[in-house]
Amino acid sequence: MAIANGSLALALIGVITTGIVAVVTIVAIYKCARIAIKMWYSSSRDHHTPIANGGGSSSSRGGIGGADADVVEMGSMSHFIEGLQNERPLRFSARQLRAFTKSYAHKVGSGGFGVVYRGVFPSGAPVAVKVLNSTLGKRAEEQFMAEVGTIGRTYHINLVRLYGFCFDADVKALVYEYMEKGSLDRYLFDSSPSPAAERIGFEKLHEIAVGTAKAVRYLHEECAQRIIHYDIKPENVLLGAGMAPKVSDFGLAKLCDREDTHLTITGARGTPGYAAPELWMPLPVTHKCDVYSYGMLLFEMLGRRRNLELGAGAGAHGHGSQEWYPRWVWHRFEAGETEAVLARATAAAAGGGREREKAERVCMVALWCVQYRPEDRPSMGNVVRMLEGEDHIAAPRNPFAHLAPYSAAGSSPTTTTATTESDGSSARTGR
Ligand SMILES: Nc1ncnc2c1ncn2[C@@H]1O[C@H](COP(=O)(O)OP(=O)(O)OP(=O)(O)O)[C@@H](O)[C@H]1O
Ligand SMILES: [Mg+2]
Repeated sequence: MAIANGSLALALIGVITTGIVAVVTIVAIYKCARIAIKMWYSSSRDHHTPIANGGGSSSSRGGIGGADADVVEMGSMSHFIEGLQNERPLRFSARQLRAFTKSYAHKVGSGGFGVVYRGVFPSGAPVAVKVLNSTLGKRAEEQFMAEVGTIGRTYHINLVRLYGFCFDADVKALVYEYMEKGSLDRYLFDSSPSPAAERIGFEKLHEIAVGTAKAVRYLHEECAQRIIHYDIKPENVLLGAGMAPKVSDFGLAKLCDREDTHLTITGARGTPGYAAPELWMPLPVTHKCDVYSYGMLLFEMLGRRRNLELGAGAGAHGHGSQEWYPRWVWHRFEAGETEAVLARATAAAAGGGREREKAERVCMVALWCVQYRPEDRPSMGNVVRMLEGEDHIAAPRNPFAHLAPYSAAGSSPTTTTATTESDGSSARTGR
């Protein structure tokens, strides 16, 4: 009996000892793993990537570009997918960008910030790679990261997504989602005999106008830190599947120096023709400069022409193409002849009365948006409600009272004085 009890005790001690050894081993493995993860994490921070690292610089751990830029390793691929899912901009090396764009083989366009190329991610997703002008080299990396971080955290269904960036010694670039239908200018102004672009009906244009306005409203009114776009124009309204609009290049004015296709004289921003008067005069600039540019975009949607077409002949709708279109619209409105504007906007329309009613709203909102005094322009929230028919639209005042007297023969706008007929009251929406 005593022997049996002794064996039982021994067996129990054996089991307990084995259990303790197993627990200690598991704890040791767990601690080692934690230390390893910490070391890995701090080494990736040493690659100074406060955002996410999509493979890092050329010295990184076999990134997407890796030693062989065309080969994607599965480890980095899962890291890459994780980064995308977490919706943080990824950092790419110049080598990776070269691989995505097949050595920059397909140029999509160029603008004031640089050149845009089409590329493809290893996952097969198409991307647009915007290689920024070299002037950016002067900018501190930290500032670049902070601003890219802000752009990357800005999400709206009507804003183009920033997937990542590159900040190498030689290449500074931004990687965006690719918008398959290109930019709105192509659909508004492409008048070649067999335009590649399909013709958009006014109802669709109205939808695009509302989507664009919602994006700018988000930047102005819903972001933690207000973002002024400074460059609203048809080239920066990109179209995706189903012609859904997304605004591009928000946040770039702060990030980049502009080329001289854009206003640079006094450090002013924007594109001539869309830039509000306060941007090219020594006046305080607020987010209302975007409302002005947005109004100019609405005029171009109504007229399906550039607001100013120098060198063109007489227009087909009773106005010379050389005439500044916004002013022509104002004078039609003032004379009670808005019908001429609406007829042009909805020409070849299938939507009948509905299109006309939407075009009329777009016309009135455009006239409000380009008021000379920023405080007389509506907020983008107002704009959305007016376009959607939720707010009554009061009759607009003359936005061009500060310009030289109107000549029916037509002329481009000439600023005379900074005075305006406006009395400053906010009667615009009649709310
Ligand atoms: N994400 C994108 N997807 C598809 N096409 C794009 C994308 N981004 C830009 N593009 C195309 O590339 C062209 C050039 O763009 P870019 O932004 O460099 O110049 P811009 O829009 O004409 O002027 P700005 O520099 O003032 O924005 C655009 O007009 C557009 O057609
Ligand atoms: Mg652009």
